[in-house]
Amino acid sequence: MMPAKYTAPRGTQDFVPPESARWNALEARIRTLAERFGYGEIRTPLFESTELFVRGVGDTTDIVEKEMYRFRDRSDRDMALRPEWTAPVVRAALEHHLFALGPLRLYYIGPIFRYERPQKGRYRQSHQFGIECFGFAGPEADLEAIALAWELTRVYGIGDAVLNLNSLGDDECRPRYREALLEHFRPNLATLSEDSRRRLERNPMRLLDSKDPADAPFVETAPPLESMLCGACREHFEALKAYLDLAGIPFVVNPRIVRGLDYYNRTVFEITSSVLGAQSAVCGGGRYDGLVRSLGGPDVPAVGFALGLERFLMILEALAIAGDSPRRGVQAIALGAQARAALVPIVTELRRVLDEPTFADYQDRKLLAHLKIADRNRARLALILGSEELAAGELVLRDLENRTDRRLPLGPGKDVAAALVEGNS
Ligand code: HAM
Repeated sequence: MMPAKYTAPRGTQDFVPPESARWNALEARIRTLAERFGYGEIRTPLFESTELFVRGVGDTTDIVEKEMYRFRDRSDRDMALRPEWTAPVVRAALEHHLFALGPLRLYYIGPIFRYERPQKGRYRQSHQFGIECFGFAGPEADLEAIALAWELTRVYGIGDAVLNLNSLGDDECRPRYREALLEHFRPNLATLSEDSRRRLERNPMRLLDSKDPADAPFVETAPPLESMLCGACREHFEALKAYLDLAGIPFVVNPRIVRGLDYYNRTVFEITSSVLGAQSAVCGGGRYDGLVRSLGGPDVPAVGFALGLERFLMILEALAIAGDSPRRGVQAIALGAQARAALVPIVTELRRVLDEPTFADYQDRKLLAHLKIADRNRARLALILGSEELAAGELVLRDLENRTDRRLPLGPGKDVAAALVEGNS
């Protein structure tokens, strides 16, 4: 029988070097940034009870209606792989009584799972960096969340990022808006897309982010919520805009940003980039003052966002920002068995003292083949020991960037290592 051919599940990806190094570098930078803003890391399980997402994210959302990886465990519990982090973060904070301690700032990096139709920038397992800021009702916290996300686009020099801002109102003004939308769409019910017809009565705001051409003319003429905001929501929105101006963060008010999750109120935002094509949002978030309470907790205002790491890296690649990874490390090259034995203690020592990788290859190869491997490893230096060098009691240290050679005495491993460390500084 032919052996089976195994492939990664549809919509998932493997990350191998040097791609995995780009991920690590991005994650390291994100952690530094989040910590600089005063956020601490939270890690939650990859799966939770399905009910948490039904209650938390909303039963009319795409995520809950059709995208969850849902399964029954061996004790017949209804579970789902995490399709987003916000509901689990609130669940964990409640479970550990973290809200009792006052304001709370948490960040996370990790996978989410959504059964979507895979395409460029859309995966079934993707990865998010996100933050959740609890305990502040004022627009200062909205600014803080947006500023953190924006700072990431700034440090990477993503020039085409656009911050789209909207307000979804609150319990006072939203019901009025709902009625206005129903009045607007109902007369055209027959011409709307099937999805929109189904959604209209349950969740009319979702029609505003429909991409279906059948809906387009009616979406375009729908009344903007901004015109119907109550006084308190309007004040909040205006204050946020003023803060953004003060912080020098450019934005556009986009009434089409309604977000696909039910927990939002007041501020919502998305950061988009033209290089992403149809899946243009790299980051989405907003305020969700009612979620903690609806999951059984106290009244705790909250705001947060999540940023898709796949999409962020796609932008860097398209804008050629990531570039080639810089050369790092030493390739130890031995020509012949005797040289190989002489290099073993040196490699061991190098791995103790160097902050860069030491690559070793134990095959018999020609020098040229070894150098090719060094290039593939993106090594900065090659430490070459052949029979000639062995006889002369020397090592050749080649700078692979400039193609220059230097000779070192072949001594005990620690002496060679010391010479290399010295050469570094
Ligand atoms: P979301 O808009 O569903 O929000 O996802 C945020 C970001 O995650 C998207 O803008 C996108 O970059 C990335 N993303 C989502 N699904 C996929 C996918 N299938 N493939 C690739 N990337 C994807 C949330 O998840 C909210 N929990 C954000 C939030 C946090 N709101 C408040 N706090």
